[in-house]
Amino acid sequence: MTKKILILPGDGIGPEIVAQAEKVLAYLINERGLDVAIEHGLLGGCAVDAAGVPLPDDTLAKAKDSAAVLLGAVGGPKWESIERALRPERGLLAIRAHLGLFANLRPAVLFPELAAASSLKAEVVSNLDIMIVRELTGGIYFGEPRGIRTLDDGQRQGFNTLVYSESEIERIARIAFDVAGKRQGRVCSVDKANVLEATELWREVVSDVAKGYPDIELQHMYVDNAAMQLVRAPKQFDVILTTNLFGDILSDLASMLTGSIGMLPSASLASDGSGMYEPIHGSAPDIAGQDIANPLATLLSLSMLLRYSLVEVKLADEIEQAVSRVLKEGLRTKDIHSAGMKCVGTNEMGDAVIKALQTK
Ligand code: IPM
Ligand code: MG
Repeated sequence: MTKKILILPGDGIGPEIVAQAEKVLAYLINERGLDVAIEHGLLGGCAVDAAGVPLPDDTLAKAKDSAAVLLGAVGGPKWESIERALRPERGLLAIRAHLGLFANLRPAVLFPELAAASSLKAEVVSNLDIMIVRELTGGIYFGEPRGIRTLDDGQRQGFNTLVYSESEIERIARIAFDVAGKRQGRVCSVDKANVLEATELWREVVSDVAKGYPDIELQHMYVDNAAMQLVRAPKQFDVILTTNLFGDILSDLASMLTGSIGMLPSASLASDGSGMYEPIHGSAPDIAGQDIANPLATLLSLSMLLRYSLVEVKLADEIEQAVSRVLKEGLRTKDIHSAGMKCVGTNEMGDAVIKALQTK
C-alpha cells in the first residue's frame, strides 16, 4: 500500500529547506520507484495566520493518517508577542504530544570535510559520532501547573513543573539501550539527580532498566558536567540519554561540535514506528527568503525518515552518501563555508545532492 508522507514547511527558512527535500523525494518517486504519496499541511506561525491556531485539526488529522511527517521549522518574531497558547512553538509541542512522539533521536556526526568548521580543534572532534536520545513528550515542557501568576505582594511569578513518571523514564531508557546495542554499546544518562527529585527517580529507573541490558555499559552524569565534557572531550560519548529540557540544550551544544547547526537532523518516534523528522535548527527568520540557508539537516532528516519510518534503508544510506559527496566536492552553504570552498545557495545545494544521487 502506498504510504503517506505529510510535509509541514512551517515558517522562516522552513519552506526553502523543505523544498529541497521535496525535490529529492520527487527524484526518488519518479526515478527510483519509491512508493509514497505526499500531502502538505500548516503548522506554526503560518497556521496561525491562515487558520487562527498553530496546529489546525486538519493538520493533526493528516499527520495521524501518515506514516511519517517531515517538518521544516516553526516560529519567528512576528508571533512572539501573541497569546501564549497560540504561539507557533505550542503547535510543535502539541503535535509531538498528540502523535506520542516520545523518543527524539538527535545524531551529532562530524562529516570529516567539516572538521575545520567546528568550533573545537579538529583532533578533538575527528570521527565524532554521538547519538542524543532526548525524551520529548514529558518533563518540564509539559508538566502542570505552569504559568505566570500574580503574588499577594503584587509581583508576578513564573512557574513550571518538572515531572517524570516511572513508565515515561522506562520507555525512553529502553530506546537508548536499544540504540546503543546497534552502536558502541555505551549509554551515558544525563540528569541533575543531586538537586532535582524528578531526575533522582530518572537515575533509579534508568539503572533498573539497565539490568535487562547486561551488554550495555551505563554511566550517569550530571548535566553541568555533561555540558563541560561535551566541549572538553566529546568523543567519550556514544549514546546520551536525557530529559526533554536537558536534551534540547545539549543537542544545540553538540551541533556546534559538528560544524554547524545547519547539519543536524532529528527523528521523533512514536511506539508504533511512525515519526516526525525535522532539522534541529530553528526557523532562522533573519536569513529567510535569501536562498542562503543550509538544507543539509533537512535532507539528512529525510534520510532518517526513510530509514526509520519507511524502512528504505538503502535510499537512506544513499542520501547520506550524496551529502558526504557534495561536501567532498567542496560545496558549502554560507554557514559552513571556509577558504577554498565553493559557496552555494540553498537551491544549488539541493540540486547538487540530487545530482550526486543520480550519478553515484
Ligand atoms: C527543538 C526546538 C523546540 C524545542 C522549540 C522550537 C519548541 O528548540 O526542537 O529543539 O525546544 O523542543
Ligand atoms: Mg532546541
